Amino acid sequence: MQSWALAEKKAGKRIAFVPTMGALHEGHGALLREGRKLASNLVLSIFVNPTQFGPNEDLNKYPRNLEGDLTKAKSCGVDTVFLPSPGEIYPEGYKTSVHVEGFSDLLCGKSRPGHFQGVATVVLKLFNIVQPDIALFGQKDFQQLRVIEQMVQDLNLPVQIVGMPIVREADGLAMSSRNQYLSPEERKSALALSSGLSLAEELIKQGVRDPQKILQGVQHLLEKSGKIRIDYVALCDPKTLQEQKTLNLPALLALACFVGSTRLIDNRMLR
Ligand code: PAJ
Repeated sequence: MQSWALAEKKAGKRIAFVPTMGALHEGHGALLREGRKLASNLVLSIFVNPTQFGPNEDLNKYPRNLEGDLTKAKSCGVDTVFLPSPGEIYPEGYKTSVHVEGFSDLLCGKSRPGHFQGVATVVLKLFNIVQPDIALFGQKDFQQLRVIEQMVQDLNLPVQIVGMPIVREADGLAMSSRNQYLSPEERKSALALSSGLSLAEELIKQGVRDPQKILQGVQHLLEKSGKIRIDYVALCDPKTLQEQKTLNLPALLALACFVGSTRLIDNRMLR
């Protein structure tokens, strides 16, 4: 993969890259189609990265659908699919990892210790292997996007990071490979995540400026829906991801909830 990428670049080609864990949906599709426009070579990686899963998380049951993924990749104009095995990425004796301080310990990092270290490490490795000029990431994983932007800046990586808007189902649920885990009843409850974000937007429109009032409104809506256990609901500075004690727009409203046993995240920029 690396030899091919270096040869392509020597020949003056540009590489756009979309790293994924597979079970591709339209959220991934939007990244791929944009990537298609941005460079002569479009590379997709599919790698369910073990180091970003905690001991009690869903690594072993994470959805895998290689055949469907390859069909989708083709329809999105992907030139090259990189499918490394865990043993190739983490051979025996592997010792190095990347920790983006600060960002990695907030929000999702609190309930998923080590998660962003796993993400930053695998993304840096993939960047070194795939040699992209441009890499595309979704704003659905807003904290992940910030972690990667920070890593690219701090480590002087010659990659342009493009953040893409959240793609949603028709009823508002943010697309996610993990939505497949939801029972029909949980799927209905999961709508409260995007409704909560819309409620916050509405409260801002009505002139509410007290972060506590906004957060309580969203929490109440989530709790009302039954099957949901809140991990966090937070109003943060979009750059630092620090929680805002007084509202300063634009602010990022970010949330994570367990719907049944499935952990889902969503966010919206409040303006
Ligand atoms: P994965 O969850 O497969 O997501 C791959 C990319 O698709 C990420 O950049 C993610 O933000 C984006 N994405 C997922 N759902 C989206 C949606 N509804 N709208 C827009 N973009 C969406 O994120 C990962 O994999 C991994 O952590 C990875 C970066 C590959 C490192 O292992």
